[in-house]
Amino acid sequence: MTGSSAPPFAVISGTQVQQALAGRERQVTELVEETYRLHGAGDSVNPPSYFLRFPDRPSARIIALPASIGGKARVDGLKWISSFPENVAAGIPRASAVLILNDHDTGYPFACLESSIISATRTAASAALAADWLTRGRPRPARVGFFGTGLIARYIHTFLAGNGWSFDEIGVHDLSADSAAGFRGYLEKAGPGRITVYEDAEQLIRSSDLVVFATIAGEPHVSDLSWFEHNPVVLHVSLRDLAPEILLASTNLVDDVEHCLKASTSPHLAEQLTGGRDFLAGTLDDVMSGRVTVPADRPVVFSPFGLGVLDLAVGKYVYDEVTRSGELHVIDDFFHELRRHG
Ligand SMILES: NC(=O)c1ccc[n+]([C@@H]2O[C@H](COP(=O)([O-])OP(=O)(O)OC[C@H]3O[C@@H](n4cnc5c(N)ncnc54)[C@H](O)[C@@H]3O)[C@@H](O)[C@H]2O)c1
Repeated sequence: MTGSSAPPFAVISGTQVQQALAGRERQVTELVEETYRLHGAGDSVNPPSYFLRFPDRPSARIIALPASIGGKARVDGLKWISSFPENVAAGIPRASAVLILNDHDTGYPFACLESSIISATRTAASAALAADWLTRGRPRPARVGFFGTGLIARYIHTFLAGNGWSFDEIGVHDLSADSAAGFRGYLEKAGPGRITVYEDAEQLIRSSDLVVFATIAGEPHVSDLSWFEHNPVVLHVSLRDLAPEILLASTNLVDDVEHCLKASTSPHLAEQLTGGRDFLAGTLDDVMSGRVTVPADRPVVFSPFGLGVLDLAVGKYVYDEVTRSGELHVIDDFFHELRRHG
């Protein structure tokens, strides 16, 4: 964006975002892998997320994730994502979000994108990427278990399937019977695999070699080490389910150390308990780059805090796709007052 004309500002709807991403699970997972590598190499700025909380609505929060990435995307921006868990009972999703993209050279915002889909997509792509890398030194899991079965669990299943995973056994556990039934309905349409809904969390974990946590638990509710004696790979996407003792008996990988050891995540609790970070093996990028090897004879826990750079990379991908399709909705005259002295 150069010259003196007013930069165009576009709004991209959820429908357009979904169209741009549908069926692109492999490409988006590769994009997320590239972005983790860029971030690992230092070609990014990703300050801590800011959590806005409310005394009158203690279960709610809105998180700001500012970030900047280099590489092909070369873009700055901000994801602004709300989590209002009571929404679910009212029939609308817990999370809602927008993503603002800012131009690298002028700083001008040039797009606002519906971002709950982008956020779920980058989260699921990261989980599928981790499932691939963290199981390379062991038999590929044929039994998956979903602990918490909301929107994120659905996206993660879609991304696993889209990346070529298939399962003989699919376990499901949720505190809400409605959620478990709804997810079961999705799984039945999605493809093969024997589906079992477990009332008992222990049975779900003992029956799964790949375990996906996608609950909204605020503090640990799984603390029995013996449930993990078969050394599963655990995608701890909801970050606060596992007691620190479980982490201390596992190989722990995160997406970014500084990010993840915050906000009362299980890794943060493990750091507080031990007074150090020795329990962390490293990041997923360390594994992808061969700096860390993942042993097969312990449980493996991946706790991804969720990086703004991933939202930016996926958001820019969507922007480019929508632009290419000729469907970009530009808001005329969005920026006004463009001459300094009138
Ligand atoms: N790490 C990341 O990058 C990242 C990104 C996006 C979302 N998330 C997290 O993923 C989680 C799931 O998000 P969602 O949009 O699917 O939420 P959702 O509200 O749609 O679904 C959550 C489900 O978990 C169930 N649940 C809650 N507590 C439980 C418990 N103790 N045991 C079993 N089930 C339980 C609920 O009944 C619900 O069905 C949230 O915690 C969210 O913060 C993480």
